[in-house]
Amino acid sequence: MIDNKIISVRNLKKFFGEVKAVNGISFDVHNGEVFGLLGPNGAGKTTTIKLLLGLLEPLEGEISILGLNPEREEVQMKKNVGYVSEEPLIFKSLTPKDLFNFIASIRQLDPKEATERVKEYLESLGAAEYYGQMIASLSHGNKQKLQIVASILHEPDLLILDEPITGLDAKSVRVVKEILDMHIEKGGAVLFSTHIMEVAEDLCDRIAIINRGKLVGIGTIDELRLQADKLGASLEDVFLRLTEQDSTVEDIVKKLRNSYKKKIEEMT
Ligand SMILES: Nc1ncnc2c1ncn2[C@@H]1O[C@H](COP(=O)(O)OP(=O)(O)OP(=O)(O)O)[C@@H](O)[C@H]1O
Ligand SMILES: [Mg+2]
Repeated sequence: MIDNKIISVRNLKKFFGEVKAVNGISFDVHNGEVFGLLGPNGAGKTTTIKLLLGLLEPLEGEISILGLNPEREEVQMKKNVGYVSEEPLIFKSLTPKDLFNFIASIRQLDPKEATERVKEYLESLGAAEYYGQMIASLSHGNKQKLQIVASILHEPDLLILDEPITGLDAKSVRVVKEILDMHIEKGGAVLFSTHIMEVAEDLCDRIAIINRGKLVGIGTIDELRLQADKLGASLEDVFLRLTEQDSTVEDIVKKLRNSYKKKIEEMT
């Protein structure tokens, strides 16, 4: 690995027909940092993440994860990466107990030790009572907790988390933050996606703001805050401006209100 870069991305592109989902993105993530991909719905966050994991083939660009090529060295790379996807967990006909036994076995973890750690994590996330229940019957948030535990069980150096706290209650968010902190203290790194500025501000050391497949801002929270101060705006304002959400929100809300008012008038 060159210096302490854990992720290195250069000029990454992925198009779906006419849609330029990822259109020339470059960034690095270093050991010991939580790096956020921040952008509105459809910005290209999930596509970027899937490219990093070798789940999608790039049209152009270079990716290095822990010094490895995710397409050519996928198996080796995945030994040291934990992933939380934005879709719900797929093993719906299993119980968490079955799922974690399965993960421990394919990851070649000590079964007793793995079970103890799983129980500890589930307890801290308030999901221990579901250990023997079918995953299909669990709530969205509780399924999400299982994914988070599954991603860290083998203690990877890199965690790639696609909107990991969306749908979690406040107490669980606090626990997940603690889990991420401990991971960083051990020298690991986290790449994390969110569409909420406040979440990025709270959890990330550095963020890349993306919009329509392009990187429109990058820096530490402090650097971005300084830039916002210079513009006499809040960080949230700058984010909304950079991602073209500022004026449109007002317009949309106005349109919605007018059409609602018209309907009410028609009904009365
Ligand atoms: N498999 C696909 N086929 C066609 N278009 C796709 C596909 N996957 C993504 N896209 C398009 O690429 C763009 C980026 O999508 P992506 O899922 O990466 O956004 P995102 O930033 O993760 O959004 P969200 O916040 O809603 O999760 C969108 O316009 C989306 O419709
Ligand atoms: Mg997404």
